[in-house]
Amino acid sequence: RQNERESLLIVLNFAKTFFQETLLTTDEGKSIGLSYFRERGFTNPTIEAFELGYTLDQWDALLQEGLRRGYNRDLLEKAGLILIKEAEAGGKQKVFDRFRGRVMFPIHNVSGRVIAFGARILKLDKNQPKYLNSPETSVYHKSQVLYGIFQAKQAIRQEDVCYLTEGYTDVISLHQAGIKNVVASSGTSLTTEQIRLIARFTPNVTILYDGDAAGIKAALRGLDMVLEEGLNLRLLLLPNGEDPDSYVHKVGADAFKEYIRKNSQDFIDFKASQWLNEAGDNPLKRAEGISDVCASITRIPDLLKRQTLSQRVAQVFHVSEQSVISEINRLLRKQQ
Ligand code: UTP
Ligand code: MN
Ligand code: MN
Ligand code: MN
Ligand code: MN
Repeated sequence: RQNERESLLIVLNFAKTFFQETLLTTDEGKSIGLSYFRERGFTNPTIEAFELGYTLDQWDALLQEGLRRGYNRDLLEKAGLILIKEAEAGGKQKVFDRFRGRVMFPIHNVSGRVIAFGARILKLDKNQPKYLNSPETSVYHKSQVLYGIFQAKQAIRQEDVCYLTEGYTDVISLHQAGIKNVVASSGTSLTTEQIRLIARFTPNVTILYDGDAAGIKAALRGLDMVLEEGLNLRLLLLPNGEDPDSYVHKVGADAFKEYIRKNSQDFIDFKASQWLNEAGDNPLKRAEGISDVCASITRIPDLLKRQTLSQRVAQVFHVSEQSVISEINRLLRKQQ
């Protein structure tokens, strides 16, 4: 087991280095991959810090180099790097690289070893996913990983807050702008394991999801889970159509920090403003909103925190604290 794990990590590291060399030293890598990163404003130190790479638009560039270096097919497949299509009637078995003609984002574990890859297509194409990711392997469990945690962990401790984004490029662009306490859930919905990983470094999380309907929905889905783990949560809505990557490039690092400072909300204000927007002065909708915020408060393990937050809910919705407390207690009884 331990040997297999180590072998996989070694072959993944070989692939990472091969993709870096392809990016930096081949004509195709430079003219396509490197110019793509340049267009996105990534500097050389950033490309180095995140060990970004490129895969040639060929069937088996990695497979051939891997075999030449003595890594066998079975290992390359177990690492998620190649695909083996069994022979159909009369045909031949096909073996080829999983990632081709894409810019490569290695995914590191918390100690900095490469365990998987995210791979972006260069020109959007409706017949292909924008990002292709490694499959689950014995070293890569997507639900347990946060992109960027290795590059961010020291800054998360120092700043005592972790910014949680959706995407690879959000982490990279904020890091380049000097905001290094950033990780990404990489498009999947947040898991308890990911939250516990953050909790190793700080009890404070600020969600910076994309400023679109999908981003808001994802933030609302992740919210209760963060509270359940006892972490302090704030959320920030970016202007519509922006994500942290696009927005930091637009306004610069200082304005971005200022935007976070001015516009991040605690989860009560965040939820309440969503509800109050929708409800206007419809009393039934407002009641539904209060109940929904109370439901989130019931997820918080700490009794004292729950009590303080009840006062805040009462203020925000202009109702008595007693009615909020009764609603929380009603929900708690229902859960038992
Ligand atoms: P986004 O669509 O917001 O992409 O998905 P992005 O990060 O802003 O990427 P750019 O700026 O267009 O390059 C957020 C994250 O969801 C995952 C990736 O981790 C992506 O960073 N995702 C998205 C996928 O895994 N596959 C996809 O096809 C799309
Ligand atoms: Mn497993
Ligand atoms: Mn998005
Ligand atoms: Mn995005
Ligand atoms: Mn983006």
